[in-house]
Order: sequence, then structure tokens, then C-alpha cells
Amino acid sequence: MAAFSIHGDIVWTETKDSFRSIENGYLNIKDGKIESVSSENPGYETIETDGALVIPGLSDLHLHAPQYAFMGLYMDEELLDWLNNHTFPEEGKYGNMEYAEKAYSAFADALRTSPTTRVSVFGTIHTDTVLLLMKKLENAGLSGFAGKVNMDRNSPDYLTEDTSVSVKETERFINECNSFAEIKPIITPRFVPSCSDGLMEALSSIRKKYNLPVQSHLDENLSEIDWVKELCPWSRNYADVYRHFGMLGEESIMAHSVWLDSAEIDLLASTGTYIAHSPSSNMNLSSGIAPIRRYLEAGCNIGLATDVAGGSTISMFRIIEDAVGVSKLRWRFDEKSGSPLKFSEAFYLASKGGGSFFGKTGSFEKGYDADVVVLDDTESTVLRPELSAEKRLEYYAYRHADKPVKAKFLKGKRVL
Ligand code: GUN
Ligand code: FE
Repeated sequence: MAAFSIHGDIVWTETKDSFRSIENGYLNIKDGKIESVSSENPGYETIETDGALVIPGLSDLHLHAPQYAFMGLYMDEELLDWLNNHTFPEEGKYGNMEYAEKAYSAFADALRTSPTTRVSVFGTIHTDTVLLLMKKLENAGLSGFAGKVNMDRNSPDYLTEDTSVSVKETERFINECNSFAEIKPIITPRFVPSCSDGLMEALSSIRKKYNLPVQSHLDENLSEIDWVKELCPWSRNYADVYRHFGMLGEESIMAHSVWLDSAEIDLLASTGTYIAHSPSSNMNLSSGIAPIRRYLEAGCNIGLATDVAGGSTISMFRIIEDAVGVSKLRWRFDEKSGSPLKFSEAFYLASKGGGSFFGKTGSFEKGYDADVVVLDDTESTVLRPELSAEKRLEYYAYRHADKPVKAKFLKGKRVL
């Protein structure tokens, strides 16, 4: 791949505490990787952005593809009712290829024009339509993981798998999706209430056999947590169940993690398990406000996530806004949970923080994958010409979260 430069106002975060920026700069890309950011033109072929903002691609650490078609509905119910009344009936439709074709096309299209470049996605129990989903994500210029969901208990008949079928289908899924270059399989036990101990053990062996990452839900909602205590009386806490089955570590994403106790915080921090902070969903489903400052201070790996359709947006800019917003509410009600997040911190979590799950993405440091998003913010040059590049990014993120991005690159390849 030839070397080239993108000319514009370049903004990124290498640490959570501050932005780096070079206005009127050149983002220099060679062989799909970031080579440098410079004020001088290095003489490569140059893509002009006409003074647009150039930022790293964002990572959505947790979202449900089959829930996109009903995103924005039933947002006045709590988690378990919402799952039983709306989510499970919707997911039941994904045994039907025609419906999946229509709904997954819309989902992939929405991501294609968004600032997101990396995703870790839940499908449904239906292997064949999850394979279709992976193809659509790959064609939409995304990279990351997608999982066939496993469920063998406490679910409606039409989503309850026989344990041995669930295991066999998971292996078929893994074997049939190896033709995709960018979207890879991830083991996806839905959450403890919907997976028997036998299924968890089998998934853990499959994970070791194929050396695959894992994703699930943890400590999201109080009624769910009480239920897990009843189902697993032997466990010290909810996170201990996943530990017991070998499902924590740097290759593991635990969505939500709103209500971690101090032992669980230590366990997630010491294992390097990723927390997918989903503030929009946590509001909509009355789950609570995760104390992200505490988790950061404990050294946890954290990324941000839409959790479509618990979250009612596919835009990571709106998630950044919500992460800052809920952290202020939490602090206002309980100062001991630590100071609110700054915009730079939320942006860092959405870019380099969550991005580190996928490798080197989300920053413009040398050697990072050239995952790049170009934003047309001409509005700010008219209304707020005095703003610095990083302030223009904040202005854009809050005002134009759902606007299609102007251009997008994945590993140096133009995808939009
Ligand atoms: N816990 C188990 N399944 C789900 C789901 O689909 N969405 C959310 N938000 N939480 C869950
Ligand atoms: Fe979820």
C-alpha cells in the first residue's frame, strides 16, 4: 500500500488527560499504519479535507445488531421486562433470513456512515444470520468481532437452545466464519441467567481450543444481580461466576459493570478485563450509573459502548456526551464516587481506551492502524471561528452526533 497523507485539522488523545492537535497538519500513513503527524507536507500523495477535523476511528465495545430495528421503542421499561416483553420476541425473528437481510442491512448502513471503525457485536442464537451479519459488517468497512449468542435456560422456547445444540452450533459458527478478513468470531454467552453451568463449561473449552475472545453482560441491573445470586449460590459475586468459568482477562468484554463491589473491581482490574461502559442504556433501562472514576483509579480497562438497543443511539458521540453527563449526576449525588469525566477522558475511552481491545487503534501514534475519520465542521468556522481544533471537536460531537462523517479509513483503506 502506497504512502499518503490526509491534510486537515488533526485531533487525538494519547492519554486521557489532554488532547493533542496539529491544525493545518498532515496525517502521514504508510502501509496502513500511522507514520507521523507533521506540520510540513512530507511529499506523499495528499488527500485534501478542506479544513475538516481529522480524528481517530471510534470503538463501540458492545452492541446488539438484532436490536437496531426496534431501537428507540420501549425505553420506559426496566431491563428484565424489556428483555422479556420486547427484546426476546424481536430476536426470535432472526431465524428468518429475509428479515435478517433487511434489518442487518440497515444496521450495517448506520455504522458505515458513523464515526465508529471497530465493534464488538452480539447477534442472536441463529448461526446462519450471524454469518450474514458478519458479511454485512465487513462490507460496511468495519473491523472487530461478532458473536453467535448462546442461551439454554430461562428464555422463551423459541430462543432456548438445547445445550448440546448450542455447543455444536458455536463450533459450526467458528468454522464457517473464517473467510472474513476483518470480522472475527467471539464467544458470546448472553449472561449468567440464560446460560447453564454445563453450557458455560463447554463454551470455556471452545474458547481455549480456538483461542477466542469472549463477551457477556455483568452487574447491569439490581434485579438481574439478585437473580444471579439465586442461580449461583456458590459464587462470591457475579464476576466470580465468569472467573470460575475462565471468562475474565484481557480478551474479555463485560458490558455495563454498573454495580461492581470492591472485590469485583479488583478482580476486573487484576485480570485486565474490559468494561464496556454504556451510559445511554444504563439510563434507559434504569440500571444505574457506573462509577467510572473509581474504575479508572483502580486501573481497569474501560471502553464506551452504545449497547444498541438498550442504548437509543448508534452514535459514539452521543455516548461520549452521556458518559460525561451521567458522571456529573453520579458525582452530584455521591461525591465519594469521584470527579466527573472531562470531555478528553470520554473521548479517550471511546478511541484509544476501548480501541486497545482490538489492538493498536484509536490514536495517531506511530505504528497505530490508520483508522481515521474526517468530520465536516464548517458550521464552527462560521459561528465559532475562535475555537481550537479540540474545542471544535467537542462542539461537533454535541451538535452533530448523527451526521454522516465526511470520510473514513480503516487500516489506511478508504471505506467511505
Ligand atoms: N442482558 C442480557 N441480555 C441483554 C440485552 O440484550 N441487553 C442488555 N442491555 N442487557 C442484557
Ligand atoms: Fe447489551
